[in-house]
Amino acid sequence: MAITIPIRQAGAPTQTRLKTPAGATLTSLPPLSVYIHVPWCVRKCPYCDFNSHAVPAELPERAYLDALRADLEQALPSIWGRQVISVFLGGGTPSLLSAAALDEILAMLRAYLNLWPDAEITMEANPGTAEAGRFRDYAASGVNRLSLGIQSFDDAQLKKLGRIHDAAQARAAIEMAQRAVSRVNLDVMFALPGQDMAACMDDVQQALSFGTEHLSLYHLTLEPNTVFAKYPPTLPDDDTSAAMQDAIEVALDTAGLQRYEVSAYAKPGARSRHNLNYWEFGDYLGLGPGAHGKLSFHDRIVREARLRSPDTWMAGAMARDGSHIAETRSVGPDELPFEFMLNALRLKEGVAATTFSERTGLSLAAISRALQAATARGLLDSDPTRLRATPLGWRFLNDLQEMFL
Ligand SMILES: C[S@@+](CC[C@H](N)C(=O)[O-])C[C@H]1O[C@@H](n2cnc3c(N)ncnc32)[C@H](O)[C@@H]1O
Ligand code: SF4
Repeated sequence: MAITIPIRQAGAPTQTRLKTPAGATLTSLPPLSVYIHVPWCVRKCPYCDFNSHAVPAELPERAYLDALRADLEQALPSIWGRQVISVFLGGGTPSLLSAAALDEILAMLRAYLNLWPDAEITMEANPGTAEAGRFRDYAASGVNRLSLGIQSFDDAQLKKLGRIHDAAQARAAIEMAQRAVSRVNLDVMFALPGQDMAACMDDVQQALSFGTEHLSLYHLTLEPNTVFAKYPPTLPDDDTSAAMQDAIEVALDTAGLQRYEVSAYAKPGARSRHNLNYWEFGDYLGLGPGAHGKLSFHDRIVREARLRSPDTWMAGAMARDGSHIAETRSVGPDELPFEFMLNALRLKEGVAATTFSERTGLSLAAISRALQAATARGLLDSDPTRLRATPLGWRFLNDLQEMFL
């Protein structure tokens, strides 16, 4: 039965809105991951719209660790007793943290959470902050996967991208990472300012030459409110960047790295468990400034976001009054199909059709009209046991996802 509830927004008169019936009960909770955001970088790259801030003269490491502990302690009632399958320290530049700080964070997670013994624990690192000893110490504390922001192996390109490292430092960082942990990912971007096909493929071949188990190949996008958006560089045209994307997929496939998500490629068995959990609509607790979380309960799915400013997040977390949380809201059953598809259809193999009901609490019948329309347009695979984009659907992914709005 639909119910009508009054809602009130600041500065607006009271209105009424029709609320759709509550979603069905979740019979089981999905796997749970933890994301920790480290908000500082040596300096801000001109293309980047992540919540990253130039590091102050002195990194407020102690204050950050105390706030992180307070943030976690306040979040515990929402995840009580649940097992954690993966941890991801992202940024920003987590490799700015000292080995002792990282050790304290992982010890804290182990003390408070039910962390799986073989949990995937990834840390992002910038080659400009890499040190062999520190990587070894991170690994000794429990980090078992390092993700390096390489972007390119071309010195002139790295300068244009405002990176703090050159190609030689990138290569050295990869070797240090490979000596420290067995699982290494490299982030490389393509369709870069002034880049042609040969330069793109040179970057790709150099990335492949290290034999890492995982590569992430990101198409550079001009994000609003970045320096590149204000002063746009000359970028390859759409046909060239589409040809780059195709050539990348072929080269990586030849080298044994399968494309399994829009930007992610892995050797067999090396897919990122943490990222897969996002795309399969699993749960994640987001700690730290600007971190987003998604948590399921038997009767609702909640999204939350922390304050973006490091200082106000730290002050709010320490006040222990919930003021470090910018937003908490239950995702309505009318929003769940789009949110689910936005993630699941990024996966080349899609997901089992049963996952939809398991993770949203809705029956597949709730989206049967959109499923039929997408299949009829050749965008969705007709196999009823899977929710998977066809090659055409993947090429026009936004159009396909929007059919579930
Ligand atoms: C949050 S960053 C973390 C890595 C680390 N901070 C670094 O840059 O070395 C994750 C990755 O997102 C990618 N990225 C950032 N901004 C991008 C953009 N505008 N377009 C495409 N990829 C982007 C980069 O490849 C980057 O390594
Ligand atoms: S180092 Fe990484 S997170 Fe920091 S500004 Fe550059 S791309 Fe963004």
